[in-house]
Amino acid sequence: MLEKLENLKQQFIQEKEGVKNLESLNDFKIKYLGKKGFVTSLFSIMKDLSPEERKDFGNHINKLKNEIEDFIAQLSDTYIKMETEKKLKNEWLDITMPFKQNKFSGHLSPISRITFEIMDIFKNLGFSIFDGPQSEDDYHNFTALNIPETHPARDMQDTFWLKNKMLLRTHTSPVQIRAMETFDPPLKGIAPGKVFRYEAIDASHEISFYQVEGIMIDKNISVANLIYFMKTLLSEIFKKDIKIRLRPGFFPFVEPGFELDIQCLICGGKGCSVCKNVGWVELLPCGLMHPNVLKEGGINPEKWTGFAFGLGLSRLAMMSYGINDIRWFASGDLRFLEQF
Ligand code: FA5
Repeated sequence: MLEKLENLKQQFIQEKEGVKNLESLNDFKIKYLGKKGFVTSLFSIMKDLSPEERKDFGNHINKLKNEIEDFIAQLSDTYIKMETEKKLKNEWLDITMPFKQNKFSGHLSPISRITFEIMDIFKNLGFSIFDGPQSEDDYHNFTALNIPETHPARDMQDTFWLKNKMLLRTHTSPVQIRAMETFDPPLKGIAPGKVFRYEAIDASHEISFYQVEGIMIDKNISVANLIYFMKTLLSEIFKKDIKIRLRPGFFPFVEPGFELDIQCLICGGKGCSVCKNVGWVELLPCGLMHPNVLKEGGINPEKWTGFAFGLGLSRLAMMSYGINDIRWFASGDLRFLEQF
């Protein structure tokens, strides 16, 4: 018996030199320690030995088995490490490399593109970027903007009402109040965002669309400041001369108030479904902030004045990219989106 064991030991010493990689180590493991392996089959003959022989033989065979197991464990670690390093070398990837552009790669929607453009323009003019909730309360959307509960101006913006006098904001103007509640004057910032109105849809009206609110509060702000910023915005966006017209407009939160229209760039002013055949598109209502609104925001109107505007961002994107129907934006139609 012990001779058989000694032979196996010699065979192990010789054959272990031939193990050169993970694959041959696995074969080696099966050959010695597998179900039908050399060591396992030596264990099976123990039942024919006397109790004393069995004890002695058992000690020797366990010693050999431990030696083989140690050898396998040690080499296994080494080979796994080597193979992993080899694999990593072959599969090395430079994640800082620019990715391969293909037809299916994602990109910004036209609304996001123009939003970022406007944010850059205003950031360069020293404006902050404000944000506000889309589900708003009655106070911020209406009352604080000088539109009390019984005011007929509430009918100007058809509202999606939620529970407990909450609503989907009908314009970005509530952010004026939230900004004044948070920051002290002097103050200048814009707030781009989504707004909602319960109204009939057509080529230039959606129930959910985008606006950019803007305010500037300082000492001695006048209509001249307002016009300067509106002109700068439009010339930076369109990078060409466009025809604009300024006319009086009524909004309870500004006094005086104006409507700034641009000549329709879809039809060149001839008349189309976007401009409702009038040749002009309502784009940029604005005005000087009403003293009541400043007061609601905790600002003394005797000391501070301000202007505010509410740019129709979806319509601006239409004019800027030549989109002839506002419904394209939410259509999810890839033929439309892939053009940007
Ligand atoms: C307002 O929403 C005011 N909050 C704007 C304002 C702010 C005035 C600050 C003065 C001072 P108006 O309802 O006109 O105003 O909407 C502003 C712009 O949003 C419009 O000129 C138009 O370009 C756009 N707009 C209005 N309704 C829709 C609609 N249903 N779909 C797409 N764009 C719309």
